[in-house]
Amino acid sequence: MSTTLSHDEADHDARRARQWLAGQARGGAVSRAELIELAAAMSALAAAADDRGPVALAADPVGVDPGIVKPLPAELLTPVESNAEMRWEAMAGQGYMVPNDRFFVRNHTHTPRLDADTWRLRLFGDGLRGTPTRDAPVEFGYADLRALPAVELPALVECAGNGRHFFAAQQDTPVSGLQWRLGGVGVARWRGVPLATVLRHAGLTADAVDVMPEGLDPPYVTGGVDLGRVRRPLPIGKALDDVLLAYEMNGAPLPADHGFPVRVVVPGWIGISSVKWVGPMEVSTTPLFSPWNTRLYRMFGPGHPGDGGPADVQSVKSAFELPWDARLAAGVETTLTGRSWSGAGPIDRVEVDTGDGWHPATLVEADRGGPWQRWSTRWCPPTAGRWTLRARAVDVTGRVQPDRAGFNDLGYHFDGVIRHPVTAV
Ligand code: MTE
Repeated sequence: MSTTLSHDEADHDARRARQWLAGQARGGAVSRAELIELAAAMSALAAAADDRGPVALAADPVGVDPGIVKPLPAELLTPVESNAEMRWEAMAGQGYMVPNDRFFVRNHTHTPRLDADTWRLRLFGDGLRGTPTRDAPVEFGYADLRALPAVELPALVECAGNGRHFFAAQQDTPVSGLQWRLGGVGVARWRGVPLATVLRHAGLTADAVDVMPEGLDPPYVTGGVDLGRVRRPLPIGKALDDVLLAYEMNGAPLPADHGFPVRVVVPGWIGISSVKWVGPMEVSTTPLFSPWNTRLYRMFGPGHPGDGGPADVQSVKSAFELPWDARLAAGVETTLTGRSWSGAGPIDRVEVDTGDGWHPATLVEADRGGPWQRWSTRWCPPTAGRWTLRARAVDVTGRVQPDRAGFNDLGYHFDGVIRHPVTAV
């Protein structure tokens, strides 16, 4: 396992596309005809497509969403259609990990209730010796996975659309889709078996190129089109590097909403790669496609002529651990805390502006090199009134948060500096 994040999705994606055009790739459960149609219509679809909750759940009353199993106390989580966003103030005074009770939930449909005793991971495809089929796969039960050597690692999971709300709120360029503020992100300690171990036990061949985990939640229907079960291919290089089949989250069995009994965790990659409730898994010697790497989770729009490639590496972001419109005491010094993160690597430095220019924030040394970075700064609101707080980070690769995020039609990777309003009283 490498210590740096591997980000070869864009290269691999370009290779996939070339092989597809040459007739050497398949779309898994999506037919080739559908894929050709999807490609032809990609730009048009992108404008209309959104990744909101399924049509079937859209009529459910807001806040009474039956799709999530865990309680959604208003002080920890905010429901967003079939999903729940973490409230940033709920992280103040917490440790490095996001506790399971407040970890955000992103469900395309709803949380399935699965039984660990009957659950099976089902691997199939010509990338395994003997080419097992979907109907006669190589199977692993829950106990089989638990019996294999385990690995535990902290990893960040973030929705590619995290921050989308600010395209409208800060930049006047609204985009459809889930209107996340900044709470579609979390870091947890995941324990499980390296996917590499399982693939090798299953008989991985030297010429396998793609692995496609598929969720056992209901098929996703959007705009009247049934896209099938959530699935997204991973290049074999990443699959063999640091990907985990996780069965524990922060020391507890994986909660139902986060993928019980087993989910994929893909460090550094957009949240959709970390398929929850994984069941079938195709291993292929030819590149694979699904709607989640063709019409969704791609960069479309003015700055991305044609098709700007997959929305792969998460952007750099910073959040204050404060309520939106927080009330602070005027003339009283207070400690402002927050966290910054980037998909490309650890955070190098963070600056905060409370109204008199940018100043370095103090970083928690113990977090150095980890998936996100806690920081703090002291501030005394000089007078009563409205103030705007800003934080910006630079990661170790030099990526910096701009004042304004680059627009794309589906509203991915908002990285602009957030203007966080507070009132001093
Ligand atoms: N896996 C399945 N099977 N179904 C889903 O809806 N959502 C994905 C991913 N895995 C999803 C899934 C998305 S978009 C994200 S951001 C993460 O799960 C969220 O993980 P969490 O709900 O545990 O926070």
